[in-house]
Amino acid sequence: MLARIPSAARFDNVAVAMHWLVALLAIAVVVLGWLIPEAPRGSAWREWLLILHRSLGLVILLAMLFRAVWRFNHPPPHLPASLARVEVVVAHLTHFLLYAVFVAMALAGYVNTAAAGHSISLFGIVGIPPLIPEDQRLAQWAFAAHLAGQFAIYALVAMHVAAALLHLLIRRDGVFERMLPARRGG
Ligand code: HEM
Ligand code: HEM
Repeated sequence: MLARIPSAARFDNVAVAMHWLVALLAIAVVVLGWLIPEAPRGSAWREWLLILHRSLGLVILLAMLFRAVWRFNHPPPHLPASLARVEVVVAHLTHFLLYAVFVAMALAGYVNTAAAGHSISLFGIVGIPPLIPEDQRLAQWAFAAHLAGQFAIYALVAMHVAAALLHLLIRRDGVFERMLPARRGG
């Protein structure tokens, strides 16, 4: 049974929808990223993986920027008083880092591609020409940052999901339910 908590203590529905959209996109973008190096160079399969990975990465970038602006205008509810001060600090720090690392990863991916002089095809429909001048050294730095950054994503998301499940299954303090859509009349 999910704990009933007052609707005032929840994230608003836009924040909830964007959170779960990004969670799904994050799984897709990482799996696609893993498949890219396995795909033979020059194959249509690799091209398709690259187009989808880059496009979803850019959608994540826009979604995270939108979420940051939305959050600024719609401050989230305070965490329950049952949480220790240190837990609140760690939760806020993890959430801040999730925003920062997802934005940084998408930017590094973009810079890696654009500084190498390549356009990005958004879902194979619109081409985005490189918005920065060609710079192979910068492209290599961005590539290294993109490869290394994936481990920050794994560590943060693992901590985040573990904490969410701890609240849902063991503490049962309503923290998980804050990120579920409000039930009508509930
Ligand atoms: C938050 C968004 C993103 C995440 C979490 C992400 C994650 C990853 C991961 C896990 C890999 C596999 C790395 C490996 O080989 O071990 C990868 C590869 C790659 N990513 Fe991303 N990525 C994101 C956004 C982007 C964007 C926006 C672009 C370009 C516009 C991009 C371009 C690439 C490219 C070109 C590779 C292939 C590297 C290779 O040739 O092996 N990524 N990404
Ligand atoms: C699929 C597994 C996931 C689960 C079960 C989950 C669960 C949750 C829950 C329950 C909260 C509410 C915490 C609170 O009440 O303060 C939350 C917040 C948050 N989650 Fe996730 N999450 C997941 C994936 C992700 C991913 C992949 C990201 C990457 C960006 C993410 C970013 C965030 C952020 C930034 C917040 C804080 C919201 C804000 O203050 O704007 N989550 N998550």
